[in-house]
Amino acid sequence: MTDRIVSGMRPTGKLHFGHYLGVIQNWVELQHKYESFFFVADWHALTTKYDKTETLRKDVIDVVIDWLSCGINPEISTIYVQSLIPEIAELNVYLGMITPQNWVERDPCLKDMAKILRSKDGAASQINYGLMGYPVLMSADIMMFNSNYVPVGIDQVAHIEITRDIARRFNNIYKTDFFAEPKPLLNNCSLICGLDGNKMGKSFHNDIKISDTEEVTAKRVMTAITDRSRMRKDDPGHPDECEVAFKYWQIFGDKDKVQKIRCECEKGLRGCADCKRELGKTINEYFAPIREKRAYYEAHPKEVEDIIQSGSAKARTEAQRIIKEVRHIIGMY
Ligand code: TRP
Repeated sequence: MTDRIVSGMRPTGKLHFGHYLGVIQNWVELQHKYESFFFVADWHALTTKYDKTETLRKDVIDVVIDWLSCGINPEISTIYVQSLIPEIAELNVYLGMITPQNWVERDPCLKDMAKILRSKDGAASQINYGLMGYPVLMSADIMMFNSNYVPVGIDQVAHIEITRDIARRFNNIYKTDFFAEPKPLLNNCSLICGLDGNKMGKSFHNDIKISDTEEVTAKRVMTAITDRSRMRKDDPGHPDECEVAFKYWQIFGDKDKVQKIRCECEKGLRGCADCKRELGKTINEYFAPIREKRAYYEAHPKEVEDIIQSGSAKARTEAQRIIKEVRHIIGMY
């Protein structure tokens, strides 16, 4: 039997290059090797944005459109929305019963989220019960499909560790070997930094979206930081100290091109502005087919809705099968 993977993303609206290179590209490859379940974690969005739900529906759709455009194939992968699978909430209840409080309290990802929340809303912000349950709900997502592997970025590994602990504890308590202990599948993709050299993120305003137009992309690329010590365009440059632009070249340019740019930069034959103009063009070429597909799905919302509904129905059938077994193992009525 093929191994299974489950992975999800919170609906944060339109996705940026960091999502594509760091996560989606990996999923696109993995879907050919594993039985794949990809979902939009809309309950997880509520753990912090319970009072900002105006755009939630649209954000879910946008995420799915981005996935489809990037090559997640609904014919071979199951694409679904978390909240359309109520069995996940039921499993969350059972897992919550067996998860010691200090396991969730020591979750480093949660600590980071609390820190960000506090820095945004000031001391008034509090951590709700639902946010405390973030890692348990995430375990329910993964265990709902008894997944063997979870393709995630390095920032999510601590969550998967908790999932393994919870799965093991469930098996011990109920004297079963029903649940697999899922392992993280780390991607080997390059981590792309934001235009300012920091981690790329929507809230840092240093991102480029998959859905941005060519004009916007070209303009945004012009703001990328280069070699800060370089004053004039014919000064010799230092590609390795070029904070963003050269790093992008290494991702989007082919080997020969990167080598050529390194030489020209070091000899002072390539000014930063020209270099970034060419980089913008290269990036636009790279994303052209993806953006074309995106325009198609934008124009065919019914098709997207059908994909979401049929994927969710398929996922739900499997979730129902598993929850039935879980109820039996626990001894529920
Ligand atoms: N916490 C993940 C993130 O922020 C999203 C997520 C929720 C997830 N449930 C999951 C990822 C289950 C993998 C498996 O990116």
